[in-house]
Amino acid sequence: MARKIIIDTDPGQDDAVAILLALASPELEVLGLTAVAGNVPLELTARNARIVCELAGRTDLPVHAGCDRPMARDLVTAEHVHGKTGLDGADLPDPTMPLAEGHAVEFIVETLRREAAGTVTLCPLGPLTNIATALERAPDIAGRIERIVLMGGAYFEVGNITPAAEFNIYVDPEAARAVFACGAPITVLPLDVTHRALTTRARNAAFREAGRVGEVVAGWTGFFERFDKAKYGSEGAPLHDPLVIAWLLRPDLFTGREVNVEIEVDSPLTRGMSVADWWGVTDRAANALFIGDVDADGFFRLLTERLSRL
Ligand code: RIB
Ligand code: CA
Repeated sequence: MARKIIIDTDPGQDDAVAILLALASPELEVLGLTAVAGNVPLELTARNARIVCELAGRTDLPVHAGCDRPMARDLVTAEHVHGKTGLDGADLPDPTMPLAEGHAVEFIVETLRREAAGTVTLCPLGPLTNIATALERAPDIAGRIERIVLMGGAYFEVGNITPAAEFNIYVDPEAARAVFACGAPITVLPLDVTHRALTTRARNAAFREAGRVGEVVAGWTGFFERFDKAKYGSEGAPLHDPLVIAWLLRPDLFTGREVNVEIEVDSPLTRGMSVADWWGVTDRAANALFIGDVDADGFFRLLTERLSRL
């Protein structure tokens, strides 16, 4: 029986690769994509999600547009990383498939209420606005979520959009606070693990050898990595979001620990900081499996092999 998932996303090249990995993996049944404002505005994330579906030959997949701004803040976007379109690096046609009827938040609520409790996993890859809004409108869904497996936050790596915060959490810290408090099981793929999954020349070359879709992915990573290479002086860039899907497929590639994670929402200096009690120095109850390491070669082998199937 395939694991049922909803991918909540702000494509973004790395989101796009995560979606492709999920669509190439028979272990997963993607019930739908829900677009959220993040890397680029909602109109573009909703467009880009459909571009990825069409690239994968999955125009049957419902793509719902969601929240176009954070719950209580102005939107902050990341065109400086992802380019004007959010999917710079590959020249793909505008989508022809329409958006699915209905707001993403309603799709999340209705799907969780329709499917048997404990059978749907939520995979947020961007700001948590859609997820938190769904929990606010329908608190009953918290007990029906199998697990929330999200990319966001940091501990040792601290921050990327500010010295204190990772982008997805920073954009909507109120949403993140609500998600971490909702009581559903949570797995976090933070910068600490994504920064151990760096693209390299050899890994990008392997993408190019993986066929039509692999060539597109190589174009995306070639564009996406320029910002982080300049910033960190590294050979490549962290491929953040596909690690969420890889954890679902091969949790044995990862290590982490159950810790308490709280989100800073009051301080202008540390807004969006994910305060992970990695060393257990407080008596705050653990609320998340916080992933700290990954077998990077194993991850890229898995990703490249799956992309070759599309
Ligand atoms: O900080 C990295 C995260 O922010 C990734 O999900 C990337 O796509 C952006 O949304
Ligand atoms: Ca993302």
